Amino acid sequence: MRLQGKVAMITGGGSGIGMAIARLFAREGAAVAIMELVPERAQAVCEEIEKDGGRAAWFAGDVTSSSDIDRVVTGILDTFGKIDILINNAGIMAPASGPKASVFECSEEDWKQMIDVNLNSVFLVSRRVFPEMAKNGRGKVVNMSSMYGIVSNYNRAGYTATKGAIISLTRSLALDGIKKNIYVNAIAPGYVNSPRIQERLKDPKWYEELIERNTPIGRVCEPEEIARVALFLAGDESDYIIGQTIVVDGGWTLR
Ligand SMILES: NC(=O)c1ccc[n+]([C@@H]2O[C@H](COP(=O)([O-])OP(=O)(O)OC[C@H]3O[C@@H](n4cnc5c(N)ncnc54)[C@H](O)[C@@H]3O)[C@@H](O)[C@H]2O)c1
Repeated sequence: MRLQGKVAMITGGGSGIGMAIARLFAREGAAVAIMELVPERAQAVCEEIEKDGGRAAWFAGDVTSSSDIDRVVTGILDTFGKIDILINNAGIMAPASGPKASVFECSEEDWKQMIDVNLNSVFLVSRRVFPEMAKNGRGKVVNMSSMYGIVSNYNRAGYTATKGAIISLTRSLALDGIKKNIYVNAIAPGYVNSPRIQERLKDPKWYEELIERNTPIGRVCEPEEIARVALFLAGDESDYIIGQTIVVDGGWTLR
């Protein structure tokens, strides 16, 4: 098992990519701590992990709130004693008011929500967790960007800006962290078969026009395929890699 004895904190681990990471890390021997805005989701994932003989705990909390982050990190330390791995995964594709996010339509409030949930959270959670990793003498951090941090898309100003910023922030955090043996990298997924796009995936026209035509590999990515890259970046095998963003997009950004 590649993460035996490790403790992994995963934000947004109650669904999609975060859930796949939680399940895989638990199978690889890690104790998994999920921070979730929708606690029932995290609870269900943890119960399933425990049923399979793994160790998991869930914590309700909003990654945009410093006080929630502090409460959750304190809870994880009380439960498992340390944090070896941090997966900054929680994120939203569009603001709560809907997907109208071009510069013509996006309100100031919506813009700020995107920045808060997708970008500020990565900084705030890292700021709280890095000192704990430094006390342990080592840590591994994986931030969730997107291929839309590299190429753009219509009506997605907030999403593309935040996911691009995560790529830059990952470089800065890597330089800050490595002085304390904290290794920071990011993943930039293409379209992943998670609940947020599952409804659209059922539409064969959408699948053919958007996914098949634009993805050289010709299919959508499964959450487990992102989880396996997160496992590599969270484990010891990636120890000479810092500040990088691994693009896992089936070739979308090659053209
Ligand atoms: N699915 C894709 O196609 C895709 C592609 C590229 C990047 N990503 C990124 O991967 C990450 C996970 O995406 P997913 O598709 O699994 O999404 P998802 O919506 O299935 O899961 C995200 C989870 O994060 C939680 N969350 C949202 N806001 C939160 C907050 N403020 N505090 C705590 N938890 C919060 C949600 O409750 C949810 O359970 C996101 O950062 C997303 O931008 C997804």
